Amino acid sequence: MCGIIGYVGSKQAAPILLEGLSKLEYRGYDSAGIAVFSDDGITVKKSRGRLSVLSEMTDSGTNVSGTVGIGHTRWATHGEPSDVNSHPHLSSSGRFAVVHNGIIENYIPLKKKLMDKGIEFVSETDTEVVAHLFEYYYNGDVIDTMIKVIERVEGSYALGILSLDQPNEFIAVRKASPMIVGLGEGENFIASDVTAILNHTRNIYYLEDDEIVVLRADGVKVYNVDREEVKKEPFQVSWDVSAAEKGGYEHFMMKEIEEQPKALAETINPRIQDGKIVLDDISLTADYVKGINKIYIIACGSAYHVGVVGKYVIEKLCRIPVEAIVASEFRYSDPLITDKDLAIIISQSGETADTLAALKEAKSKGARTIGIVNVVGSAIANASDDVLYTWAGPEIAVATTKAYSTQLSVIYLLSVYMAKLAGRIDDAEYTKLVEEIKRLPELVSGILEKKEQVQYLASKFFNCHSIFFIGRNLDYAVSLEGSLKLKEISYIHSEAYAAGELKHGTISLIENGTLVVALATGDALFDKTVSNIKEVKARGAVVLGLAKADEPHRQDSGDYVIELPRVNELFMPSLAVIPLQLFGYYVASLKGCDIDKPRNLAKSVTVE
Ligand code: G6P
Repeated sequence: MCGIIGYVGSKQAAPILLEGLSKLEYRGYDSAGIAVFSDDGITVKKSRGRLSVLSEMTDSGTNVSGTVGIGHTRWATHGEPSDVNSHPHLSSSGRFAVVHNGIIENYIPLKKKLMDKGIEFVSETDTEVVAHLFEYYYNGDVIDTMIKVIERVEGSYALGILSLDQPNEFIAVRKASPMIVGLGEGENFIASDVTAILNHTRNIYYLEDDEIVVLRADGVKVYNVDREEVKKEPFQVSWDVSAAEKGGYEHFMMKEIEEQPKALAETINPRIQDGKIVLDDISLTADYVKGINKIYIIACGSAYHVGVVGKYVIEKLCRIPVEAIVASEFRYSDPLITDKDLAIIISQSGETADTLAALKEAKSKGARTIGIVNVVGSAIANASDDVLYTWAGPEIAVATTKAYSTQLSVIYLLSVYMAKLAGRIDDAEYTKLVEEIKRLPELVSGILEKKEQVQYLASKFFNCHSIFFIGRNLDYAVSLEGSLKLKEISYIHSEAYAAGELKHGTISLIENGTLVVALATGDALFDKTVSNIKEVKARGAVVLGLAKADEPHRQDSGDYVIELPRVNELFMPSLAVIPLQLFGYYVASLKGCDIDKPRNLAKSVTVE
């Protein structure tokens, strides 16, 4: 949940580190710091607060001189956000400086052991243990020392370490936390993700767990824990630099909302050829699909909400029982999953700790696993039996939009593909469904063109204290996401409820003027949801409805109605979610919230 970067080359390191950190702030933004080799040793500058505080402190990096350095942006786990808990952390003598992303799970016994030897700790972090351990085991050889250190620490780590004795290089290692190596001309990098170094190079190495890398200006060497050199194949990143820039938008979130038609087209189009769904990335057979006992969809946050949509869609099309479950619950539930079951694991980042652990749990029980992942080469992508990538490009805003949408589209493709394989739908239905999926990018684009209507509605309701979202079946699944989008960035209390369940308690919270956002996009359940809308209106609620533009009674769905185009009902979530994303965005914007970096959150959650 932190971002790290490292640079070695001939240019001044600090401005490059700060620029890279600015791309990693989505991973954490409660403090930031850098350590750079300068003429008189290792200079550390760090501070609580946003990166802008560090930028100011260092004159955008210009008052820290040196060409080798490491940097960090933090999301606090061990120890509150403070100057002293900020990274980099130094060993007692100041000989080593460490940045770390992850958690050292056994830091308490290690800390005790080191304290018993007289070593003084200055911070409350788990990371400081690594700095002191490094010094404790240092024998003049940083690779040997790194091996000794990683043999002793448990948990997850991406580490960048400067050593005073080696001023022309730095050393790094990762395990279960992301870190890539960037290969430049006369300069080399480490970073938590490629967006941080795209301005400098597109050639990268992905690192396996516990591969140790020594970076110098003129080259990079990778070693395994037996100290043997490992030959790596460079990977060429195709994302263009603008993908990780705001490009004139005030916030990444709006840019990413607007990018959805393109992201959907890039995820869907290559997988539909001559009217057929082609999922070359996985190798499902008709017999396998027919034999599936149960499907588990496992994920966290918005990705879990995609799973809830997936449950309805897969059950409807494939007639296989599906359970959507949050990863943190699944992993400790002693799940009944077996080798007859399929686990679909959804994750934008591919590194969410609970999701990764749940994936391992499912595999250990023999289940086949399919990952739906955005970040190529991420831990979840690597650990899944098969991967279906979403081609959303880098997503920077903490509140996900285009990743959610592309994950939905992959669920649709997979559902229709499996339904056809298992013979649960005929050719005619298959053809129609495929055609409908193909229309999604254009339909989403049409909804985005009318975003001013949502902006207007947001201006009427941004002062609300509590907002409820209701819907039935797929509309309920989308309500979950709409409610989350609103509350995570606007800090307005919100709950999503199955429309039929409201009267079993929650309706007591409805007062005069309470806003209820009611999704009534289905044909079969429209009247049922309208009955629930009447129930809340009778108790004073103001209702903002979402209904199909060709629904004759759409005005019954609310005092204000957002109209949506018609697409096969199973795919309506892709359309209904767009106004809800916009609503959350505009409400948060009118409230003056920090939309891309909401308080207390981080985009990549690598702690459980
Ligand atoms: C965080 C993010 C959410 C995301 C969830 C799962 O909570 O703020 O937007 O849905 O993690 O992340 P993943 O990378 O696994 O999709």
